[in-house]
Amino acid sequence: MRAIAVGRGETDPTVVEIDEPEPAEGEALIRTLRVGIDGTDHEVIGSNHGGYPEGEDFQVLGHEAIGVVEDPNGTDLEAGQLVVPTVRRPPGGDAFGSGAEPNEYFERNEPDMAPAGEYVERGIAGAHGYMAEYFTSEPRYLVPVPDEFAEIGFLVEPISNSEKAFDLAEASRSTFEWDPESAIVLGNGPLGLLTLAMLDDRGFDRHYCLGRRDRPDPTIDIIEELGATYVDSRETPVDELPGAEEPMDFVYEATGYAPHAFQTIDALAPNGVGVLLGIPGEWEFEIDGGALHRDFVLENKALLGSVNSHVPHFEAAVETLAGMPEWFTDAIVTHVFDPEDVDEAFETGDDRIKVVVEFDDL
Ligand code: NAP
Ligand code: BGC
Ligand code: ZN
Repeated sequence: MRAIAVGRGETDPTVVEIDEPEPAEGEALIRTLRVGIDGTDHEVIGSNHGGYPEGEDFQVLGHEAIGVVEDPNGTDLEAGQLVVPTVRRPPGGDAFGSGAEPNEYFERNEPDMAPAGEYVERGIAGAHGYMAEYFTSEPRYLVPVPDEFAEIGFLVEPISNSEKAFDLAEASRSTFEWDPESAIVLGNGPLGLLTLAMLDDRGFDRHYCLGRRDRPDPTIDIIEELGATYVDSRETPVDELPGAEEPMDFVYEATGYAPHAFQTIDALAPNGVGVLLGIPGEWEFEIDGGALHRDFVLENKALLGSVNSHVPHFEAAVETLAGMPEWFTDAIVTHVFDPEDVDEAFETGDDRIKVVVEFDDL
């Protein structure tokens, strides 16, 4: 079968021919429909994040997938059911993440909270991903989605990352009466825009989104269509938001631009919370540590990191995606490529938001 993979030491993904996977006992065979590409995939290709499956000289990419059950293979799944796979698997399985016993984090359904060494990530770190005509998985790592999700279901995974981030942030403010009004999303990539579209339902009144682009730009159009205010970081740096716009009750970082992690402390209103999702490479810079520390303490601010997500976040994401307007999901998915057009699929450009590789349709 065809798969999209990157060879060790290489930076350009190519189409490779690999054996169709045989589902082991307790696993189903899934036919892949669509797989989305995000900033993390580009970091993986550039060897800035993740790593190859042990003993393999290539890695099949892709972690944002939607597929259809081809062979339930004795599991409770039904042939024809649409499913979205989760990303993490216990370490110690084969190159496709199969065959390892769940460790304590997986047993309590919190693999997203596991430290390094206690998981692999399909398509990212230590296991092959979903950019192949078929993949196999135990049903416990597959989230059923409605039939209408055949074209957009790959968005469940990135939305689930934000469901978790919101949960963590809200939990950190749950011991007092927190009545947030203003929120900013840092980053107008696909994760940032999907998250911006989630702010209404999370109870924020005033929404902002940070980018570094000139108009006309499709992401600025979407930001404004969502009723949010576009902030250009070249004119208004994040630490100047309280003066130029307003102090933010909530900051969601999705740029991977490391200075934003610390500028977020300045951007926050008293009692506010910032959550960091970007995954920068090595990056040294100076900060005014004393002032940040003091402000952080005296104004009861919180700053959290959040990575990955698991089944409950995926289930919440299914609801969230179902409630997103069609104009929005249409505008987000800017490019759909066949696997053969792999070179084009992994190009970058300001006209692209979410790029998708389509292996099959229903
Ligand atoms: P992306 O496509 O790379 O988007 C990042 C966006 O941030 C880009 O649109 C970029 O603008 C903008 N940006 C970067 N620096 C900026 C600056 N200084 N000022 C204003 N805008 C800036 O990535 P993504 O898929 O949306 O994901 C965002 C980040 O989250 C990535 O680092 C990704 O690895 C990470 N991520 C983490 C998790 C998690 O679980 N923690 C989950 C998914 C993704 P331009 O396009 O104009 O350059
Ligand atoms: C993926 C997460 C993963 C994270 C770190 C994100 O792009 O969506 O599932 O945990 O990268 O590798
Ligand atoms: Zn991702």
